[in-house]
This record gives sequence, structure tokens and C-alpha cells, in this order.
Amino acid sequence: MTVTTELPQVLVIDDEMGPRESLRMLLKPNYRVHTADNVEAGLRILREKKPDAVISDIRMPGTSGIEGLRKIREIDPHVAVIMLTGFGALETAKEALRLGANDYISKPFDAREMREVISRNVERTRLHRTGVNAATEIKELNNRLLKELAQKERLASLGQASAEFVHDLGNPLTIVWGYVQLLAKKLEESEKENGAANQTSKELNIIEQNVRLCRELLTMWQSYGSVEASPHKPISVAQIVSEVVKGVSPMAVQNGVQLDCEICDDPCTLLGESVQITRAIQNVIINALQASAEKKGKVAVSCERKDFYVDVRVQDTGYGITPAQMAKIFDPYFTTKQGKSGTGLGLYITKKVLEDHNGSIKVDSTPQVGSTFTIRLPLLNNN
Ligand SMILES: Nc1ncnc2c1ncn2[C@@H]1O[C@H](COP(=O)(O)OP(=O)(O)OP(=O)(O)O)[C@@H](O)[C@H]1O
Ligand SMILES: [Mg+2]
Repeated sequence: MTVTTELPQVLVIDDEMGPRESLRMLLKPNYRVHTADNVEAGLRILREKKPDAVISDIRMPGTSGIEGLRKIREIDPHVAVIMLTGFGALETAKEALRLGANDYISKPFDAREMREVISRNVERTRLHRTGVNAATEIKELNNRLLKELAQKERLASLGQASAEFVHDLGNPLTIVWGYVQLLAKKLEESEKENGAANQTSKELNIIEQNVRLCRELLTMWQSYGSVEASPHKPISVAQIVSEVVKGVSPMAVQNGVQLDCEICDDPCTLLGESVQITRAIQNVIINALQASAEKKGKVAVSCERKDFYVDVRVQDTGYGITPAQMAKIFDPYFTTKQGKSGTGLGLYITKKVLEDHNGSIKVDSTPQVGSTFTIRLPLLNNN
């Protein structure tokens, strides 16, 4: 609430100098008084000064007080207007009240009565204005709350829709899973009959692994928000890298990128979650393939055991990363692949997963030459 220490303002409109100046003298100690000798001049002051009360003569040459009253109301519907009427002109006073005046005083006026009427009316305007301000504030607050509520509802329904989506996705995926198993079995039988393993069963194996990954990702999503994280188990990083590379190799072929892989003999065992580590490594390798596609470049993946940790290095000859981009690549939703289905979540997820496993990720890049991402993970002590 604003506290005004300034004097209230009163506007006096009267063509006769006598009453106008006597009102000024009378009100000066308690009010800032503005005067005008005709309606038009009065209206200008009204617009400019926003007085708390207007005292206007009814009978004036040019625009009359009644016409002036109508114009005053158009400019300020809430200012108190007191009409000065000629002695005994009760009918005119009534007419003025009907047209929106708040009070009237007959001329010649009594000083004490005049002070009382003005003080009452100034108070009325102020109360009205504070009320209007409060009402406006409440309205604004209401609008803001309604907007926030609508946004929250949208987010909630998005959450609900995603939950339903994840649930519904589970069904066809289970069917795909079943058929993949069936196909694998049939293939195995025909291989037994023919006595030779063929390439198709290897490809089917990769499909099977990736459908399993999808199922595990869905389960992970469904348990999102549950406090208990799934327990860490001994997992082989070397095996995960090899599986991820196998999984993405058709993508490399499609993009004309040469994909090389060098994995050490050690399993590189650590305590962790295999689904998480898989997606962390997958994101980095897919990025490298995407970056190298245009130049039909090379991606080299290596997995090398050091004393207490393992380094997974993904080196590409792609378009590289500028220093400005470098500062943002791990931020959620940062992507330079707009319109090409990039969400900008890949590296953010990777970094989060690695941190959960006490690991780290490092990047070296030269624009137009290529990039190297190095993932470092601590190994289980006793292997
Ligand atoms: N190997 C790379 N070479 C060049 N730029 C890269 C490389 N890896 C990441 N980037 C840059 O980092 C950005 C963020 O990568 P991130 O994996 O987080 O998202 P994205 O690949 O754009 O989208 P998404 O992973 O969701 O498909 C990329 O858009 C790209 O600009
Ligand atoms: Mg990515």
C-alpha cells in the first residue's frame, strides 16, 4: 500500500472570480488548490493533476457545469464532484446528482459546511481509488495464479501422458521381444540342420540385445522417482564397449563412416549398472558417428585398462567443437542438431551416469579436424 504524505488536491472550476478565489483561500491550508475559470481549462487540469475532488459551478458561459460533469466522468469516473448551485436551485442540484455528481453546495456557501463537504468527498475518492487499486492488484494476482496453474496442469498432464506412453510402449516391445526369441530359436534349429552358423543369427543377437536394452530403459523410467536406486553389480566395461560398437556398426555403414574398435583383453570390471554405462558410452559413440557422417570420416573406439581405472576413448574425424560450444555441450537441451531430432540430452545423461559411477569425461577437439572423448571409470579393486 502506498502512503501519500502530500496534501490532497482540489480543483475549483468557476467563471466568477469571487467564489473561485474565496474557495482557494479557504482550502489552501489543507489542500493543494487548482483553479480554472472555464470547463475546458478545468478538464485539462483534471487530466494532468488527477485531483481528489472537483468543485464546479453549474451555471457557466460556454460549456455548462452539467455538460462539464459528463466530461469529468468520462475522464475520471471515481473523482468526487461537488456542484455549486445557485441559491434555491434544488431542481438543478437533483439533476446534477442524477448525472453523477457526488454532492452539491448552494451559493453563497458556509465556510464550515464547505470544509466538511470537501473533506468527506476527498476521503471518498481516496477510499475508492485504494479500493480500485486493491481490486486491480487482486485481479492481477488472480490472473498470474491462473496462468501458473494452467502451466502446472499442462506439465502434470504431460507427466501423465508420458507414463501412459511408457506403459503402452511396453506392450509392443514385449511382442517384439517374444518374436525375436522365436526367430532366434528357429534360426538355431535350422543352423543345426545345416550344420553352419550364419551371419543372420549374429544380427538377430544384436537386435535381441537392443530390445532388451529398451525394456530395461522402460523399467528404469517407470521406477523413476522411487528412492531406491538399483544395486550396483560387477560389470565388464570391455564387454559393454564391444556390444555397443556391434550395435551401432550398421549405423556407421549407412553413414559411410569407418568404425574401428580396439578392446583390451582385460574385462575391466567395475561395480555399476550395465544399462546406464551402456547408454553413457552409446551416446558418445553415436555423436562421433553423426559428427563424421558428412565427411565420411573415421571413428576409432578403444577400451584400455590402466592400473586402477579403464579409459574408453572415442576419437572421430568429424566437424569438431568450437570453444563456445564446448562450454555448453554437457548442458541439458544444448544441441546443434536442431531439426535433426537432437534433444541435447545425450551428453548430459552420459556425464550424470559417469558421475554416479565416480567416473569422468574429458573432451579434446579441433574444429573441422575432429574430437576425442575420453571416459574414465574406476575399476573394482580386486581384479
Ligand atoms: N563428437 C562430436 N563432434 C562434434 N560435436 C559434438 C560431438 N559430440 C557432441 N557434440 C556437440 O555437443 C552437442 C550436444 O550433444 P548431445 O549428445 O548432448 O546432444 P545431441 O547429440 O545434439 O542430441 P541427442 O544426443 O539428444 O540426439 C551436439 O549437438 C554437438 O554440437
Ligand atoms: Mg547425442
